[in-house]
Amino acid sequence: YRSIRVALLGAGSVGSQVARLLLEQGDELAGRIGARLELAGVAVRDVDAPRDADLPRELFTTDAESLILGADIVIELMGGIEPARTLVLQAIASGADVVTGNKALLATHGPELFAAAEQVGAQLSYEASVGGAIPIIRPLKDSLAGDRIDRILGIVNGTTNFILDRMDTTGASLEDALATATELGYAEADPTADIGGYDAAQKAAILSSLAFHTEVPIEAVHREGITSVTAAQVESARRAGYVVKLLAICERLADPDTGEEGVSARVYPAMVHRSHPLAAVHGANNAVFVEAAAAGPLMFYGAGAGGVPTASAVLGDLVAIARRHVLGGPGTAESTHAELPVFDIGRITTRY
Ligand code: NDP
Ligand code: HSE
Repeated sequence: YRSIRVALLGAGSVGSQVARLLLEQGDELAGRIGARLELAGVAVRDVDAPRDADLPRELFTTDAESLILGADIVIELMGGIEPARTLVLQAIASGADVVTGNKALLATHGPELFAAAEQVGAQLSYEASVGGAIPIIRPLKDSLAGDRIDRILGIVNGTTNFILDRMDTTGASLEDALATATELGYAEADPTADIGGYDAAQKAAILSSLAFHTEVPIEAVHREGITSVTAAQVESARRAGYVVKLLAICERLADPDTGEEGVSARVYPAMVHRSHPLAAVHGANNAVFVEAAAAGPLMFYGAGAGGVPTASAVLGDLVAIARRHVLGGPGTAESTHAELPVFDIGRITTRY
């Protein structure tokens, strides 16, 4: 087999599992791809930090810039905006394709990164950025490309779903449910991005841009977190036959003033009737409910976070790109086309 050089940026929860699976499944993946994926190195901040997986120490470096030079495919799993943004741009400029799970980066700098990739015919894939292991990016981009998506209702944050589910099933307060989520390792040491709705808003921006063929910046997403949800509200919803879920709602809507069709993306705690499939999404799971004109309702469900499940989505992108290298096909950078106007934040905030 010929060799495809892969540079991995980050070996935290997700990156360490990607590296482990790449090394463990090397022969099998080579057979599927028709080329061998060679892990050229792993860039981290501290080469001696303990890892979730047992990986050869000689793979590690703190010099990410040198590592990406000469790589065919760069996997960015560092998180955050910088230096991830600069490194992804450098990777694209050096002729590499890129796989990332970084929703914060895509929601804030997506157009810049996609334009850079499109300019040089590079591929920029991001299945892991929304819904962890759940295949949702490629179904929206490819399988449903010929349909018209009218609305997406997503439970796209596992931490808040765990908390709200626990409040619903045990009557716990938000504080107690958050403490349990932290104990069990679902919530980060700083849970602000999750309970404040920022993480879900980034995912809503990515889903809306893709589903509605337009650019939905993070600033256009109306965002409310779950911090003010009380045990009494959850209990009263339960008595009325509803469950409270943090929903990302992305839909085509008519502008209330002009009647012009556009896009609205909102994240807030909403009452979901128990008969709706989203009401049955328990624990830290995620689900994305897509309403398409011809396909009808579709639901994508599964593990929305976690190192091993998310590594599955990253490896799926990696194998798809590697196969294109073998076939010698042109890159297919995502491009977003500003077809629909995006309504100002706060203009459409109707709650259920
Ligand atoms: P972690 O924080 O666990 O790991 C980040 C890794 O990046 C660490 O290995 C860290 O090095 C390295 N890193 C960070 N900054 C730098 C830097 N400046 N230079 C070199 N290396 C750096 O992140 P996760 O694995 O949890 O997440 C990675 C990405 O995947 C994020 O974008 C996240 O949003 C996304 N994602 C995560 C999911 C999850 O369940 N965790 C689910 C879906 C997406 P060191 O170890 O030395 O500190
Ligand atoms: N903190 C995120 C969550 C991780 O709880 O869903 C996955 O993006």
